[in-house]
Amino acid sequence: MASHSKILFSVAITASLAAIATALRSAARRRGGVGSPLPREGGCVYLDYAATCPIYPEVADAMVPFLYRHWGNPSSGHAYGAPCRDAVARARASVARLVNCNAAEVAFCGCGSEADNWAIRASLRGARSHVVVSAIEHPAILACVAALERSGEITATVVGVDARGLCDPAEVAAAVKIGETALVSVMLANNEVGSVQDVRGISRAVKAVDDGVLVHTDAAQAVGKISVDVRALGVDYLTLVGHKFGAPKGVAALVRRSTAPLPPLFHGGGQERGLRAGTEAVPSLVALGAAADIWLDEGAAIAAHSAAMRDRLRKNIEDALGADRCTVNGPLDADRDRALPNVLSLGVEGALASAILADVGDRVAASASAACHADDAGVSSVLVAVGVPTAAAVGTLRLSVGRHTTPAEVDAAAAVLVGAIRRGDARAPAALAKRLTADAADALAGRESAVAASVAKHERDGDVTDDPTVAAAEAAVRKAFAAIRKLERGPTPDAADAAVDAVDAAVVAARLATKAG
Ligand SMILES: Cc1ncc(COP(=O)(O)O)c(C=O)c1O
Repeated sequence: MASHSKILFSVAITASLAAIATALRSAARRRGGVGSPLPREGGCVYLDYAATCPIYPEVADAMVPFLYRHWGNPSSGHAYGAPCRDAVARARASVARLVNCNAAEVAFCGCGSEADNWAIRASLRGARSHVVVSAIEHPAILACVAALERSGEITATVVGVDARGLCDPAEVAAAVKIGETALVSVMLANNEVGSVQDVRGISRAVKAVDDGVLVHTDAAQAVGKISVDVRALGVDYLTLVGHKFGAPKGVAALVRRSTAPLPPLFHGGGQERGLRAGTEAVPSLVALGAAADIWLDEGAAIAAHSAAMRDRLRKNIEDALGADRCTVNGPLDADRDRALPNVLSLGVEGALASAILADVGDRVAASASAACHADDAGVSSVLVAVGVPTAAAVGTLRLSVGRHTTPAEVDAAAAVLVGAIRRGDARAPAALAKRLTADAADALAGRESAVAASVAKHERDGDVTDDPTVAAAEAAVRKAFAAIRKLERGPTPDAADAAVDAVDAAVVAARLATKAG
């Protein structure tokens, strides 16, 4: 009897533990799902997913056992090694599924920069020491190429992009030197303007010219944002980076086709089948596998959510500032299918991105595409490559969203950014005066043209109107242009505020007069 009740008791305990585990798992899923908010640093809205993506809550949960319990060395033959070895193998399988390759083709490494450098060096063979890259590659490619050029190890050709930030596959293929080119490296998605290249077309075109050329794509910004299939792309090497899609910083992979050479960058204990020495960063690799699984489970929802948040952000800002003041760089308008779902490169006419970001830094986290400061005319080489004029480049913000961005965050961030842009306007009165003059002229030339015409007539003839509404509108219009002229003469924030108010008042008065007329 006693043992019977013990069995019943233990069955009940097991059942309730299972229920608790299920509840915890679904709570974790709820906590981490698409569109669920994450805690904010000091209340600051995070719009900088392209710089680094938050660690997804489920990814952090997956790491925990490998911090507290399974901390052994995967190479150890004893009990502490096995769970770590198994976990690394599972992570490798997940990453392979993520990009559609064999597990043996995944070489784990420490960061995207390492993977990019590794691919370039691995590709150099005998007489093949020429490299072709696009003008908008990440510094992990461009700086490595420049260093190898300086040391005389390679020569390089840089291929430009069009206004959408896209390379022409034919132009890339034309840069190939038969028998000399070792590698063509063109990123799958750009980190500033979000252009998604036709890497499949590039690979085909290049190999049609010389099938000895190896092709690498830096997919750091693509993996976890769009579907990536290394076979379909037809590349020999592909870089993917954990911290861009929900894993922590300091873990990445170079995926390579089994036929592509991959000599080790450094030598040591024979880890990664002798390709990369160094005891494996087990918790980080577990995280990379978990982030891959999340994309495999809910990638379509992440992409759709990101695109909705990006479009909402854009609309909010354009509605407040006027669409004609905003320019979206990259392919979003011209070629939407070639745009990453989560990046918005937004140029605001007359604004200074560095000043806006300094103003909002504790409320909105974002980046300037332009490396610009008030006293530094340097602008992003990516924006230069896509043909954005310097004046527009210094006013360009890179806003990037992701799995955990919420509509409320987008709305709040847009309001904060617009406020900062308006404050910036007041600090840049000369530009503001120009714009206000144009705004006022536009408004008065449209529906209110009757008032504009009567102002002109009465100014010319020196007489006055006897219609009090028209007289009031004329006075308001004169006052507005006087305020703008004052602003041009003495550019102060007060003068800017007065001019904005005067133009607003003039437009309202002119509308009234037009209706009355
Ligand atoms: C396109 C691209 N490639 C490479 C990297 C470098 O990755 P990591 O910072 O892990 O070295 C980044 C990171 O910003 C990136 O955006």
